[in-house]
Amino acid sequence: MRVLIVGGGGREHTLAWKLAQSPLLDKLYCAPGNPGIGKVAECVDIAADDIENLKKWALEKRIDLTIVGPEAPLVQGLADSFRDAGLKVFGPGKDGARLEGSKVWSKRKMKEWGIPSAAFAVFDDFEDARSHLARFYGGPVVIKAEGLAAGKGVTVASGPAEAEQALYDIMIERKFGDAGDRVIIEQCLSGEEVSVLAITDGKDLVFMPSSQDHKAIFEGDKGPNTGGMGAYSPAPIYTEDLARKTEEQVFWPLLNGFNSMGIDFRGVIYAGLMISEGKINVLEYNVRFGDPEAQALIPRLKSDLLPLLDAAAGGDLGSMQAEWREDPAVCVVMASKGYPGSYEKGLPIKGIEELEQEGDGRVAVFHAGTAMKDGRLVTNGGRVLGVTAWDDDLRKALDRVYDACSKIKFDGAYYRKDIAHRALKRM
Ligand code: AMP
Ligand code: GLY
Repeated sequence: MRVLIVGGGGREHTLAWKLAQSPLLDKLYCAPGNPGIGKVAECVDIAADDIENLKKWALEKRIDLTIVGPEAPLVQGLADSFRDAGLKVFGPGKDGARLEGSKVWSKRKMKEWGIPSAAFAVFDDFEDARSHLARFYGGPVVIKAEGLAAGKGVTVASGPAEAEQALYDIMIERKFGDAGDRVIIEQCLSGEEVSVLAITDGKDLVFMPSSQDHKAIFEGDKGPNTGGMGAYSPAPIYTEDLARKTEEQVFWPLLNGFNSMGIDFRGVIYAGLMISEGKINVLEYNVRFGDPEAQALIPRLKSDLLPLLDAAAGGDLGSMQAEWREDPAVCVVMASKGYPGSYEKGLPIKGIEELEQEGDGRVAVFHAGTAMKDGRLVTNGGRVLGVTAWDDDLRKALDRVYDACSKIKFDGAYYRKDIAHRALKRM
């Protein structure tokens, strides 16, 4: 098969790394890719949201399967445009991608379909939103920009002043552009978060093991939210009982809801859950693999990924199954100093090749924000690398991953030292 991956971050590198191992693969391309991806696939210099040129190129190259990594091109209709041209795509059309692209639509559908989720109210006027805050005074509330904001449009405000500031930033300062046309003010839930992902062809579901992301920039889950600072899998809080409830309360009602609307969803459904005393609430749905969850999940997949994605894209997942390793995996994100605020780019990165040569195959370095400059690997984004290791228990995997991180150097390299702290507490 001739396969195209759309995207160029850590998640796409992980997908490329795994797909490159498939005996069914003839040729792997990635648009736009990154220097890490370039080692296992041919990078194509077309942006992930340049739908027309991607389609033209995919038709010319007779691509058998296109796998879309990030949400933006899905929300913009990449899958519809490709399917209209007779190309097979792993990723939902515009209709299904609204689940992530519009937080308001998503919250309303959850309510309509009886999916457990926090109480909420929607506003398109700053003053209305501000006066509504009064109702929540005294307790924490969550403020969310309506549209896509690269995982940064949500503020968990500890009190009214912070909540008002978040409303101001979104609606008046327009910090997230058009994503600030509407806001959601949401009840703040407490508990422990888990990410649960499933591959679907719109009819059947293949579940991946649980994983847990670390969104805050600082240790102890302090500071502003980022795209994700690290992840591990499995998450011990996610028991078999919770898995059964999640399938019943979170996944099937969604799929049935989609079907009732004629939405043929082929791709990943990612449910971000809050678990408290055995009760499940959905914080959000995403319509793609998580980043960095994918970096912790995909290395645990023992069976071939390609037939699974191909079957989902083709609408014939049937009773297909995935085989997972018992070994836990941990991904630690190495970020640029200053992220999620402003940061410098173009700083040389050292140590990756040596690490890859000396290892026993249980460490993988996935590139996110990297670039080549004058023949040297340099930083090119906030999240620079996702370093993943796996081993027969979590502690060993953690030792392995932090040992690897300590060997990779760039100026101002920052990473959290407490990834998987919740799992360790439960051990
Ligand atoms: P979202 O993009 O909606 O998942 O929100 C990003 C992060 O904000 C989540 O992973 C949570 O850490 C936090 N969050 C979102 N909604 C809530 C909520 N209702 N209560 C508490 N935390 C939340
Ligand atoms: N890790 C969070 C996300 O992918 O949305």
